[in-house]
Amino acid sequence: MSDEIPGLDLSRLAALRSGVVGVRISYEQELGSTMDEAHRLAEEGATEGLVVIAEQQTKGRGRFERTWISTPGLDLTFSVLLRPAADQLRMVNMAATMAVQDTALALTNKGAVIKWPNDVLVSGRKLSGILVESVTSPSGGLQYAVIGVGLNVNLRPDERPEIRDIATSLAQESGADLDRTAVLIDVLARLDEYYAAIRVGQDLSERWAERLDTIGRYVDVNWGGRTVSGRATGVDRDGNLLIESEGQITTVVAGEVTLRRAPGNR
Ligand code: BTN
Repeated sequence: MSDEIPGLDLSRLAALRSGVVGVRISYEQELGSTMDEAHRLAEEGATEGLVVIAEQQTKGRGRFERTWISTPGLDLTFSVLLRPAADQLRMVNMAATMAVQDTALALTNKGAVIKWPNDVLVSGRKLSGILVESVTSPSGGLQYAVIGVGLNVNLRPDERPEIRDIATSLAQESGADLDRTAVLIDVLARLDEYYAAIRVGQDLSERWAERLDTIGRYVDVNWGGRTVSGRATGVDRDGNLLIESEGQITTVVAGEVTLRRAPGNR
């Protein structure tokens, strides 16, 4: 690691080796994207639980081919390789978002919420973005899934006018800089617990649905070039969002949610 950037303390991450998540750690100063590196290692046969961390990504990506920008030494950007059974894949995103939310609740004393499908917000601003990519074999079987997490830790968006209104960080919400290694261990240990629950057959969808801030709200969801508007009434067992409008329910598999006023409220 360079002298200027305070690095993570890898020796403390060894505590994770007793579980699945964190069984192997790859920590790089710079990568294109931790997602690409995790995919590369997965194709080489890496064991599940591998965590790829980069201080800096030159091609960090978010959903809908957006760019993910983070600050070396201040934030956390990492990917986790899992090899769930095909019927468990739908819960990988639920596990990841709940793990990050739990960490945020524990460290900030503020009401961190999940915005469907995979953002964690505090004070209405984005704390973390999560991305899940999965790969299937030519015969259609699930090979593996990669979870990508971008988590703002010691970034101070209140000092950055261009992101002040949309982003926040654990430090900004808690009022003090945090030990990034401890934050990373906390998220990974919680993810390991949720993944253990998935592997023994637990269904996380109800717990996850209860934590979604989106439910009960009037929303526009941009999805596949169209906009679905209505009240979010719940999610199905796969985590798809159910939107009710004029008595009809539309099931939304993916999309970008924007909150709107309830009808009649000006
Ligand atoms: C989103 O909000 O759209 C998801 C953002 C996910 C960003 C993380 S940072 C670590 C990992 N590597 C990437 O290139 N993307 C994910």
